[in-house]
Amino acid sequence: MLRTFTCGELTSADINKEVTLCGWVQRTRDKGTLLWIDLRDRYGITQLFFDETSAPEITKKARSLSREFVIQIKGLVIERESKNKNIATGDIEIKVSDIKILNESKTPPFTIEDETDGGDELRMKYRYLDLRRNAVRKNLELRHRLAIETRNYLDKLKFLEVETPVLIKSTPEGARDFVVPSRMNQGQFYALPQSPQTFKQLLMVSGFDRYYQIVKCFRDEDLRADRQPEFTQIDCEMSFVEQEDILQTFEGMVKHLFKTVKGIDIPALPRMSYADAMKYYGNDKPDTRFEMKFVDLNSIVKGKEFKVFNDAEAVIGICAKGAAEYTRKQLDELTDFVKRPQIGATGLVYARVNADGSIKSSVDKFYSEEELKKWAAAFNAQAGDLILILAGPTEKTQKALSELRLEMGTRLGLRDKNKFSCLWVIDFPLLEWNEGDPNLLASLAGRWHAKHHPFTSPKLEDFELLNTDPGAVRANAYDIVVNGVEIGGGSIRIHDRTLQAKMFEVLGFSKEDAQKQFGFLMDAFEFGAPPHGGIALGFDRLCSLFGGADSIRDFIAFPKNNSGKDMMIESPSEISEEQLKELGIKLSQ
Ligand code: AMO
Repeated sequence: MLRTFTCGELTSADINKEVTLCGWVQRTRDKGTLLWIDLRDRYGITQLFFDETSAPEITKKARSLSREFVIQIKGLVIERESKNKNIATGDIEIKVSDIKILNESKTPPFTIEDETDGGDELRMKYRYLDLRRNAVRKNLELRHRLAIETRNYLDKLKFLEVETPVLIKSTPEGARDFVVPSRMNQGQFYALPQSPQTFKQLLMVSGFDRYYQIVKCFRDEDLRADRQPEFTQIDCEMSFVEQEDILQTFEGMVKHLFKTVKGIDIPALPRMSYADAMKYYGNDKPDTRFEMKFVDLNSIVKGKEFKVFNDAEAVIGICAKGAAEYTRKQLDELTDFVKRPQIGATGLVYARVNADGSIKSSVDKFYSEEELKKWAAAFNAQAGDLILILAGPTEKTQKALSELRLEMGTRLGLRDKNKFSCLWVIDFPLLEWNEGDPNLLASLAGRWHAKHHPFTSPKLEDFELLNTDPGAVRANAYDIVVNGVEIGGGSIRIHDRTLQAKMFEVLGFSKEDAQKQFGFLMDAFEFGAPPHGGIALGFDRLCSLFGGADSIRDFIAFPKNNSGKDMMIESPSEISEEQLKELGIKLSQ
C-alpha cells in the first residue's frame, strides 16, 4: 500500500505516530512562514502543516502544489493548535517530512468542495470530478448501504439472486423499448428489458420460488427528475403466495431498510384503495405527510346563480390550515398556478375563514354568509383557514387539485424531507383506456391498456366485468408509496394459459400476435406454473428518498441528462459507415 492511513481516520489517539497518507490537494492556506494544506480522499480531510523556518525545502515544495494534485506525504501526527470540531480529524495535523507528487492536475473546471461553483452541465461533463465531492460521494455510499441491506433481508428469507438477460425481445406493451441491432441476424433486433418481468415469472415455473435481482432496466420514455432511461429495480417474485403475503414481505423489507440505514422505525403501512386515493388526493401516489384531503362540494354549492359550479361535473376543494392571511398577491399566484397549461384548471375559488369566524369568498356575489358557513363545516375549517376550490370534469379537476394540494403542502412547509409517510395503494384498475399516451406507440391509442402490465391477474369477483365493463375490473395489483413517490409496484400474476390469452384478447392482440410475442410464457404456463406474484422497487428512487433529494440523478454514478444524453462520454453518438454496413442498417437521410 502507498499509505498507512486514510485521510479520515487519524485522531488525537495517533499523536506522535509516523504516517504515510495519499490524497488530493483540496486547498492551501499560506500565512507567510506557515502553510497548511487540506489533503482529501474518500474518507475525509487531514490537515498538513509546514513551517518554513524549521523546514524550508519541504515548505517550498508544498507551495508548488496546486489544487487536485495527487500526492503522497510522510510525516508526524501532532496536536493542532486551533482545533476543528466539525471534522473527525480536527484535533490533529501532520508535520510533513516528505512529499511525493504522484500526479499533477490541471486546474479543475469547478471547485471540488461541498459548495461548488460548477453548474449542472459542467458537473455532468466532468462527472468523475463531481464524484470527488462529499455530497455526491455520500449519495453513492448510501446507495451501497441500501443494496447491502436489501440483499441481507432477502437472503435471510431465502430469496435467490438470479441474473436475467439484457438482450431480449421487443414487445409493444409498456413504454417504448431501446433496441439493439443484431449483426448475426440481419434485419432483426434485440430489445433491452423494461424489466425482467417475464423471466422472473419463468423462474417461478422453474421452481425457484423466491427470486430477486438488483437489476438495470431500460425505458425509452420522457425523462423527469425521478425518471432515467436506464434505472435500477429491486425486482422480486415469489411462488405459492397471495397478495397479503407479498405486502407483508415487502413491508418488512422497507421497514428493515429504514431501520438499518436511517435508524427510523416505520409504523405498519396503512392501505388505501386506488378509488380512495383518487377521491381524497386526486392521485394514485398521495403524499400523506400531510392531510388536506379533498372535500366534495357538489351537494352544497349547486343551484345558485354561479354557473361555473352549476355546470361542473366535480366541485372539489381543500382546506389549507392557517393560510387565511394569504394576500391578494399570493392568491393571484395560486390562481396563475392552477391555470398553467400543465395543470389546466379554468380558475380558482377561495374562501377565507377570518379570525372572528366571518367568511369572505371570491364568490360572495352568489353565496350568502350562511351558505359559506356550510362550506366551512364541510371542510371542518377553523378561524384562520383558507378554502380553495376547483370545478370541472372529474378526472381533470382531481388532477389539478392534487397539484394545488402539493403546492400548498410545500408552501406551508408540510413536506419535510426528514419525515416519512409510507402506504400501500391497492385495488388498482386492471385496465385503462389509452387516449394517446405520449410514452406509448401511437398504434396503441384507442385501446385498453394494462394499467400495471398484461400479466397482472384480475380480482376474481370482478372477472365477469371483463366482457361488459373492462374499465371497472380491479386488479390484484399494489404500489408502495412514500412521501408522494411511487417507490414500487407489483401484482399477483395470471398463471393460467386461458386467462392470459383472454387478457391479451382484451388488450386488442390477435391470437397470432399474442402467440408470436408471448407464446413462450403461455406455453410455460402449460407445464405446471405455480401461483405467483411479485413486486419491483425503484432502487434509484428509494436512494433519493433516503437521501432527502427530489432527483434520482445524484444517486446514480453516471446519469443521463433530461435529453437522455451522457455529456461526459457524449452518448448517444453516431456510428461508423462500416459498423452500419455490418449491421445491415441503411439510414434514410
Ligand atoms: P413498474 O413499471 O411499476 O413495475 O416499475 C417498478 C418501479 O420502478 C421505478 N421506475 C423507475 N425509476 C426510475 N426511472 C424510470 N424510468 C422508472 N420507471 C419505473 C418506479 C416503479 O415503481 N415488472 C413490474 C414490477 C412487477 O410487477 O413485479 C415493473 O417493472 O419506482
